[in-house]
Amino acid sequence: MLLLEWSSEYSVGVKKFDDQHKRMFDIINHFYALMTVDREHDKIQNTLQELKDYANYHLADEEKYFEKFNYPKKEEHKKIHDEYRKKINEFIKERDNKDGRLMSFDIIDYLEDWWIGHIMGMDKEYVDFFKDKKID
Ligand SMILES: [Fe+2]
Repeated sequence: MLLLEWSSEYSVGVKKFDDQHKRMFDIINHFYALMTVDREHDKIQNTLQELKDYANYHLADEEKYFEKFNYPKKEEHKKIHDEYRKKINEFIKERDNKDGRLMSFDIIDYLEDWWIGHIMGMDKEYVDFFKDKKID
């Protein structure tokens, strides 16, 4: 079962970022499947790491272009990215503290709400700004 399904309504008008969002959805769906089906510790741990690493790569990539083109809302947008990074680190730390015991589903709700809310909110705000910029 898919938690997140990308569709054109989520497009931010930049192919590179749309592709990264799709990949992010794939990883979250995979994570969700692991959480609901086998809950195998090592697999969940690996996917959680992948989820963190890929998001960090994607958020940093967006930020790189905010800087490059001096996007007017770059500071407030980066602040929201920072909150996300912090929250994910907290989830991972919480899991480590539990010494590998099963983690709660809170992270699933958070991921779903955050990515949909962020793409439809803050990311959509840069659509017009990036429309005539070259991003590859
Ligand atoms: Fe963003």
